[in-house]
Amino acid sequence: MIKNICCIGAGYVGGPTMAVIALKNPNINVTVVDINKNRIDAWNSEDLSSLPIYEPGLDEVVAEARGRNLFFSTDVDKAITESEMIFISVNTPTKTYGKGKGMAADLKYIELCARQIAEIAKTDKIVVEKSTLPVRTSEALKSILDNTGNGVKFQILSNPEFLAEGTAISDLLSPDRVLIGGGTDEEGTNAVNALVSIYEAWVPSDKIITTNVWSSELSKLTANAFLAQRVSSINAMSELCEVTGADVNEVAKAIGMDSRIGSKFLKASVGFGGSCFQKDILNLVYIARSYGLNQVADYWEQVIIMNDYQKNRFAKKILTTLYNTVSGKKIAFLGWAFKKDTNDTRESAAIYVADALLDEQANIAVYDPKVVKEQMYNDLANLNTRKVEEIEAGISVFSEVYELCKDAHAIAILTEWDEFKEYDWKMIYENMKKPAFLFDGRNILNGENMENIGFVYNGIGISKNIE
Ligand code: NAD
Ligand code: UDX
Repeated sequence: MIKNICCIGAGYVGGPTMAVIALKNPNINVTVVDINKNRIDAWNSEDLSSLPIYEPGLDEVVAEARGRNLFFSTDVDKAITESEMIFISVNTPTKTYGKGKGMAADLKYIELCARQIAEIAKTDKIVVEKSTLPVRTSEALKSILDNTGNGVKFQILSNPEFLAEGTAISDLLSPDRVLIGGGTDEEGTNAVNALVSIYEAWVPSDKIITTNVWSSELSKLTANAFLAQRVSSINAMSELCEVTGADVNEVAKAIGMDSRIGSKFLKASVGFGGSCFQKDILNLVYIARSYGLNQVADYWEQVIIMNDYQKNRFAKKILTTLYNTVSGKKIAFLGWAFKKDTNDTRESAAIYVADALLDEQANIAVYDPKVVKEQMYNDLANLNTRKVEEIEAGISVFSEVYELCKDAHAIAILTEWDEFKEYDWKMIYENMKKPAFLFDGRNILNGENMENIGFVYNGIGISKNIE
């Protein structure tokens, strides 16, 4: 029976995942550790609105479990020493240097964790890969753990996380499935069973599937590739809709009712963002190429190419519609996060659209209910396309939408926050420059209603002036 577990990495995955494991397993002590002290302090903050990540329902889970059997700490060594099972949930970003730059996953953080576990562990441990990793990473982990350990035995499991941000808590509470990959010998089976029993505290047994380690590692990359591919597929169709008079929402509905296709993940948009899709597909492409599978690599790479095209296309549409110049014009951005109900902005389409419009000397005004100004400036600075002073001069951040849109030449909706649907659009219209352009990058508004108010409305995949 496992009594103590820890998780290295208190981020978007480690934090919520361990909070739910602790909530549902009151007899197991769960310690989440991180080298980032600010993040740990925020996880320990009295004020639950100051948790480091925003997820609906997370505050309630933390309120119930924290201090009871859920702990956040910077003492990684102590947590490793005391735990029988160690989850690794550190970041695995795209490499920015050396071999595989811009494509491969950077595994330095994972390797550091493995080396630290190998050095510190004095008793047998089950090490669980929670991070998304290239297929066969567990082989490298095993080699590090077995060769520098203290005669301690390690079992390595793969347990990829499928939660989506914004719905992390409900995804964790009722997952479609839990996937566990592990060895098939007696010790491997025991380790798999130990992890199964933790999930069985709340997940029905038939939703917990076990596979070999390689299938589990590869299934995570495959799932993200398939999901992103659906978005790029419908986005590809959105452009065809715009030139033919078809409506992408109608097309998505019509095909989604085919049970073989299904209705989810067919929402045309300004392009997908988030920390996972692009990174994981690039990694998949890199792996395929490294095995010489160039057709496989090219096939999946097209999903990214299409997504980049969609983000650019949106920016270009704003420019051409505004008479080919946005120089000095106020363009109001509604939303900066990569999707609603999260404060995460990693790879958000808004960053790329803003960058393209800053190239054209637009004055961009932004409002997002959960993203702070410093984050927006950082996101643009990280592109290395212009100086910080230029970013600060080109982007102004508002905390109130009516002020944001006052005297704007155009509004661009970048994130599908629910509150955007509830605004007094008539009042917004009245205070804008005319003609008042509205670019709905998420198709959340009713175009006809907006046109009746007076807006020149542009949705994604909705044709204009074609009978
Ligand atoms: P994150 O950047 O939010 O969190 C990672 C944390 O790990 C950071 O706080 C960092 O300080 C910490 N860390 C790094 N090295 C460390 C070390 N040696 N010791 C202690 N702490 C260390 O990342 P995330 O979004 O939580 O993603 C983590 C992993 O989960 C990635 O592999 C990602 O691909 C995968 N994943 C993410 C999501 C998602 O929605 N964000 C979903 C499924 C899977
Ligand atoms: C994704 C996977 O869904 C999740 O299973 C995995 O664990 C992590 O990566 P996440 O990136 O958090 O989750 O959010 P997701 O809901 O998948 O959205 C990703 C991006 O695609 C967002 O920018 C979203 O707006 C966009 N999207 C999604 C669309 O444009 N259209 C859709 O129909 C669905």
